[in-house]
Amino acid sequence: MLKANIAVLVSGGGTNLQALIDAQKNGIIKSGNISLVISNNSSAYALERAKNAGIDTAIVLKKELGSQEAFENKLIEILDNAKTDIIVLAGFMSILSADFTNHYKDRIINVHPSLIPSFCGKGFYGLKVHEAALAYGVKVSGATVHFVNEIPDGGKIIMQKAVEIMDGDTPEILQKRIMEEAEWKILPLSCEKVCSEIIKEK
Ligand code: GAR
Repeated sequence: MLKANIAVLVSGGGTNLQALIDAQKNGIIKSGNISLVISNNSSAYALERAKNAGIDTAIVLKKELGSQEAFENKLIEILDNAKTDIIVLAGFMSILSADFTNHYKDRIINVHPSLIPSFCGKGFYGLKVHEAALAYGVKVSGATVHFVNEIPDGGKIIMQKAVEIMDGDTPEILQKRIMEEAEWKILPLSCEKVCSEIIKEK
């Protein structure tokens, strides 16, 4: 069967990448194949997860390339060479410019650890999102998967899942619950949804 070529961009631990790899193994992702993992951090554990699963990896460092433009051009070169159909941002901690997002219009998805439009946009990433949710005192948070455009966390929403906040939550505890109950579920499901739509057009 024809499959969409998936590239996953990562920066850190890669638990969302692992959820994608596991979903491909157990058939939740059936319309796509994860063929490449790119990291902007050479010590990201996500790279080990990719290697353990036999997936090609690449490291692209903005510091070495000197500018955002050169960084994005290198990413585009690698992604286009790999004939990428869909780019999944899975804990990728770098904001991409309009030049990049326009190049892959409706082909980039991202998982964000809150219910957008709360606690999102520039400066809201990783634990900072959960710190802000707890500081505000919301009783429900969650995760969102959305298309990526030039506005940070501003693209069309694909899926969301709510997660309850409990007494005594710390940012770390909340982060873990949102990953387990929401991110690791809706990211693979959203990825499959977009892949199945892409292969219909192929
Ligand atoms: C995840 O919680 C992801 O939603 C978040 O970073 C974590 C990465 O964990 N992403 C953002 O905050 C993007 N704005 P992982 O490397 O274990 O998947």
